[in-house]
Amino acid sequence: MLGEKYLPPRVGLICRALSKEMAALVRSRQKMANEKGDRGTILDLALQDKEYGSQATLNELVDQMKTFLFAGHGTTASVNSWAYYYLSYHPDCHTKIKAEHDEVFGPDTDLATVGQKMNSTPSILGKLEYTLAVPKETQRLRPIGDGARYAPPGYIIRSATGAGFDSTGTILNVQHEALQTREEIWGPTAAEFDPERFNSICIHAFRNASPRIALVGIWHTLR
Ligand code: HEM
Repeated sequence: MLGEKYLPPRVGLICRALSKEMAALVRSRQKMANEKGDRGTILDLALQDKEYGSQATLNELVDQMKTFLFAGHGTTASVNSWAYYYLSYHPDCHTKIKAEHDEVFGPDTDLATVGQKMNSTPSILGKLEYTLAVPKETQRLRPIGDGARYAPPGYIIRSATGAGFDSTGTILNVQHEALQTREEIWGPTAAEFDPERFNSICIHAFRNASPRIALVGIWHTLR
């Protein structure tokens, strides 16, 4: 693994054990590739891909699976934790979620029954408009992190006064939390938790902001 020599020995051990476990999993799914049955995991999809599935090396597949494992866990854990935090302060939102679930899934709250409905008709999830707005609003206020990108050569950043800064050769950090709580984009309630705002997509971005700011707002709304 790239950079493993810089890790503390115990972490290195855990990483090697994980790689071994993942390699065994990849091999077993490769063997099963032509068998019938449930083949819907992300690993199966990669293996089924005509080009990638036959060309990717074991090490590459293991690395890809590790990326998905880590990228998927911390992010969803963070969003869920913050969502529960906000819902605990906004019992009205919690009540709306429950009402929407009753409406979409019916009164039977048995997990197996609800799971069966989701599996047989996945499009049913699209009806959970309010429920889906809650993680969006949570991520608006508590985004996972920033986005760092190398500036393209000659890229000039302008301040509000028009002063220019040539950012060639620097890494730019897009501060999501600052963008996603700006009143020009989100209106006077920008700092408040209000999932309803996602029902009227980014009205403030269209009305008040410059096209560039509006685009940022719309992008974050959709994302
Ligand atoms: C609510 C959950 C999630 C959030 C908030 C989230 C957030 C992000 C963000 C902000 C990036 C871009 C980072 C950057 O380039 O600056 C990213 C990239 C990525 N995410 Fe997620 N993510 C989530 C769930 C997942 C899940 C479940 C998976 C995998 C199963 C995943 C896999 C990835 C991968 C592979 C990339 C890198 C894409 C690339 O640049 O090629 N993410 N994620």
